[in-house]
Amino acid sequence: MGPPGAGKGTQAVRLRQRLGIVHLSAGDMLREAVKQGTPLGLSARGMMERGELIPDDLVAQMVEERLRDPEGARGFLLDGYPRNLAQARRMSEFLEGSGRRLDRVLALRLPEAELLSRLTGRRVCGTCGAGYHVVNKPPRRPGICDVCGNEVVQRADDREEIVRERLRVYTTQTLPLLDFYRESGLLFEVDATGTPEEVSARIAGALEEVPR
Ligand code: AP5
Repeated sequence: MGPPGAGKGTQAVRLRQRLGIVHLSAGDMLREAVKQGTPLGLSARGMMERGELIPDDLVAQMVEERLRDPEGARGFLLDGYPRNLAQARRMSEFLEGSGRRLDRVLALRLPEAELLSRLTGRRVCGTCGAGYHVVNKPPRRPGICDVCGNEVVQRADDREEIVRERLRVYTTQTLPLLDFYRESGLLFEVDATGTPEEVSARIAGALEEVPR
């Protein structure tokens, strides 16, 4: 968990490689549905561009379908799901129904100014998905992906006014979930400042602590 731009996706990929478990990113799945023009993608597109949450039922069905997949038998890492209390309760029931549970909830923390700078400066390759940042990691040729040579673009929801709306939605709808997981003893908060390597080291430390 964590606000938009805290580094959930970046750290989830590193953890997936380290632990060899499935990484389910709700945002990536939704973006793929939009790209493929599926019925889910067609309904989600406008809401995502405005920085709103997609209705719980649609997102829950999408995630549950993937969690039924045998590839998740060794374990799974949820990124960006659940994002409100209703999603969290539904997921607990779903997991209980299949004899599984969450072992840890990691919540990344980062000051708002840094979130804004990471997101408004982010650019992605529209074809292969490689990530860039206008200041920290610009492509070698402006606007052209180093990996596949196609165009590098800004995510529609990374424009400043939409980032501010995503932060507002996080504060009002997702932040209360931290208390929910804190009360169940699963929550580990992680300082997400510094380099990706530094954040990964803090996460590794949190994973070694035993939940109460
Ligand atoms: P989603 O794609 O999940 O967006 P988000 O939560 O807003 O998160 P981001 O992907 O923008 O940021 P992140 O925390 O993953 O950070 P990242 O690693 O990318 O969701 C998009 C939309 O889908 C939502 O707005 C909503 O509409 C819908 N949706 C998704 N889940 C939903 C749900 N459960 N219910 C309903 N609707 C849902 O890093 C950000 C940038 O910072 C990158 O450029 C990265 O390279 C850089 N960076 C990362 N770490 C560092 C570091 N340590 N130092 C410097 N730069 C760094």
